[in-house]
Amino acid sequence: MAEPKENLQMEKIVSLCKRRGFIFQSSEIYGGINGFWDYGPLGAELKRNVKELWWNTMTREREDVAGLEATIIMSPAIWKASGHVDTFSDPMCDCKKCKKRFRADQLCEDQGLTLIKTADGKFALPAGTKCTACDSKELTEPRPFNLMFKTYVGPVESEDNVAYLRPETAQAIFAQFKNVLETSRQKVPFGIGQIGKAFRNEVTPRNYTFRSREFEQMELEFFIKPDEAVEAIHGSVATVPATGHPGEPQPNWGWQAWHQYWVEERVRFYEGIGLSRDTLGFHHQTPEELAHYARACTDILFKFPFSKKDEHGNVKGDELEGIAARSDFDLSQHQRFSGKPMGVFDDELRGAWAKLPKEKQDALWKRYYDNRKNYLTKSGVEAEAAQKQATADADGLAKGQYIPHVIEPSAGVDRLILALIANAYTEVTKTDDKGKTETTYVMKFHPRVAPIKAGILPLLKNKPELVAKAIAVRDLLRPWMNVYYDDGGSIGKRYARQDEAGTPFCLTIDFDTLGEKPELLDTVTIRYRDDGKQERIKISELRDFLLSKTR
Ligand code: GLY
Repeated sequence: MAEPKENLQMEKIVSLCKRRGFIFQSSEIYGGINGFWDYGPLGAELKRNVKELWWNTMTREREDVAGLEATIIMSPAIWKASGHVDTFSDPMCDCKKCKKRFRADQLCEDQGLTLIKTADGKFALPAGTKCTACDSKELTEPRPFNLMFKTYVGPVESEDNVAYLRPETAQAIFAQFKNVLETSRQKVPFGIGQIGKAFRNEVTPRNYTFRSREFEQMELEFFIKPDEAVEAIHGSVATVPATGHPGEPQPNWGWQAWHQYWVEERVRFYEGIGLSRDTLGFHHQTPEELAHYARACTDILFKFPFSKKDEHGNVKGDELEGIAARSDFDLSQHQRFSGKPMGVFDDELRGAWAKLPKEKQDALWKRYYDNRKNYLTKSGVEAEAAQKQATADADGLAKGQYIPHVIEPSAGVDRLILALIANAYTEVTKTDDKGKTETTYVMKFHPRVAPIKAGILPLLKNKPELVAKAIAVRDLLRPWMNVYYDDGGSIGKRYARQDEAGTPFCLTIDFDTLGEKPELLDTVTIRYRDDGKQERIKISELRDFLLSKTR
């Protein structure tokens, strides 16, 4: 199944990915399956490195985050509570003439138009919208198409046995919140991170692996105290500058500081794997774009070769990750739908509340009450019941109880892999003495994500002493990092092969390594991918040197 060619740069990237074994079409020998992609030997290593870096940065290297690995299929009640059963859909329309199916918002966008959202929450096509395949203006009205893949658990295909492949990893974190809290000895503020597959039956998968039907997410749910609790304990909620990293977390941070902290932490993560700030963009969701319960959402974008230009000719980029301040919506939903309490008890809050002046208690009580009532009413709870529940919730706050709020940094692994590939892709054109030009390809991955850390190259393959020494170097490094032994072809060809794989260092074992020049005994030539520079390094120093560059 051919992917539509978005532009020349993408075409070249797709070709290199297939040729070098980064990405293949799923089921290619049967013509492919639209929206599904496989990672080849180099892609699989790249992906593992990225996930491991995320996991280490977000969980192991932090005191305040624990990990989780949940199942893909969960109780369908989870997706009812989360809202996915009722509202996780894209507007879809069909061309009545050629029968091609479109995602209505994309169809409009491709023609410089904007899909109309009607007052009752439905959608309408603006005048002039046409089918981009056959130019017909006979299109059906947009209708919602639920993106969840449905399946049946057990042998009977009945409505009672319907289950869904998870459309996000986040919900398992909420559903297991209490279990993790109780077993990890964490206290709010703390987070739960998870990496795993998610599935969305996209109407029109596109832009290579960017919008796939099966993909992987790296999600953190970071639970924080509601601002009213922070204010009760600390007297006020910290204000932080509107831009830049707010520094080490402080106990008096409210949701705004935590939100900004996570945006900046995530940008640092991207910078740390080679995506400089100028390759990234930001989109701050507008009040119209935000879900009713969300307080803010900042998308971190990457400027992909297919990213569109705005009216000023600037490329804004496409989403790598969204960092959402989701209030206490998710845990509240699961509390209401499961009937299981999702709140926490905060001793510090209870102590602080008792010491507050009455007016402050009343003001905080009222603010918390209003927020809870607003959530309950918007979630369809009728007025009287909402008032009663909100009163109980605000009374609970005064006794040190609340449902934690959450900041959610949610990243797409496959999108990040594509961004890293696009960012690394470099063409080098050289002209020789005879005027002949040749283009070679260098994948300039940051050494931390590079699939292969070092190429191990014996100068000649028919010299057993060189081969034995090269294999010894390989075996020395192999327990610590992914290295690749290559003795095939000229040394230049082997360098070029490693450049295309994005290997940052090549180690050549030559006669000097064997002591032809005694002062160079047990040294190798290290060649740097990005500038071709070469120098000698002692074998005994190799491991530490390479680890310092690749971790
Ligand atoms: N949990 C947010 C997302 O899947 O986009």
